[in-house]
Amino acid sequence: MKRGKFIAFEGGEGAGKSTQARLLAQTLGARGIDCVVTREPGGTSGAEAIRALLLGTDGEGWHARAEALLFAAARSDHVERKILPALDAGQWVICDRFVDSSRAYQGGAGGLGDADVMALHRVGSHGLLPDLTVLIEVSPAIAAARTSSRDGDRPDRIGGRDEAYHARVAAAFAQLADAEPDRFARVDGDGSADQVAEAVFAAIAQLI
Ligand code: TYD
Repeated sequence: MKRGKFIAFEGGEGAGKSTQARLLAQTLGARGIDCVVTREPGGTSGAEAIRALLLGTDGEGWHARAEALLFAAARSDHVERKILPALDAGQWVICDRFVDSSRAYQGGAGGLGDADVMALHRVGSHGLLPDLTVLIEVSPAIAAARTSSRDGDRPDRIGGRDEAYHARVAAAFAQLADAEPDRFARVDGDGSADQVAEAVFAAIAQLI
C-alpha cells in the first residue's frame, strides 16, 4: 500500500484555509484520490475537548508554556489516532493547521521560541511534518473583514488577541516559509475562493 500524502493549510485568521481544504479534497476526490479532511486543534474527540479548553473565553486562560503543551497534546492524539492511520492506509490527509501554527503562534508571536515548540512536537508526534504546507497569505484588511463577518464581536481566545500579536504571527509564518522553501508553498489568498483554489492546486500538483 502506497503511503498517502499529508498536506497542511496554514495562515492567519480569516485566510480561507477551511474553504480551501474542502475544495482541494473535492478536486482530488474527482481524480480518484481518497482524502481525509481534518483540523487542528481538534480532529479526534480528545483533541476537540482540548480545543474547547484552549479557545473558550471563560476564565483567565493559559500562560504561554501551558498553551503550547495543550496544543502539542491535542496534536499527539490527532496524529496517533487519525493522521498516521489514514496515511498508512494510503489516504491523503488535508489538515486545516498543523505544527507550523504552533511555531508561528506559540513559538514566534507567543515568545516560546521554535526549539521548544519542535521539542514538544518530537515528544508528542514523532516530529511528523507535512509533505507540503500551503501558506495562504491575505492582506490584513481582507482578513479582518472575513473574520468579523464570521465571528462578529465574539472571536475565540486566540483570534481575539491584539493586532500586534497577529502581525507577529504573519511575520513568523513568512519566516518559516522562507527557511523551508521545499516544504512550503505560498499562495496569495486575496482573490476569490475559486482563484485561490486554482493556485493551491498548482502548488500541490507535484505530489500527485
Ligand atoms: P482555527 O479554528 O483554524 O481558527 P481560524 O479559522 O480563525 O483561523 O484555529 C483556532 C485558533 O487556534 C487560531 O486562532 C489559531 C490558534 N492555533 C494556535 O495558536 N496554535 C496551534 O498550534 C493551532 C493549531 C492553532
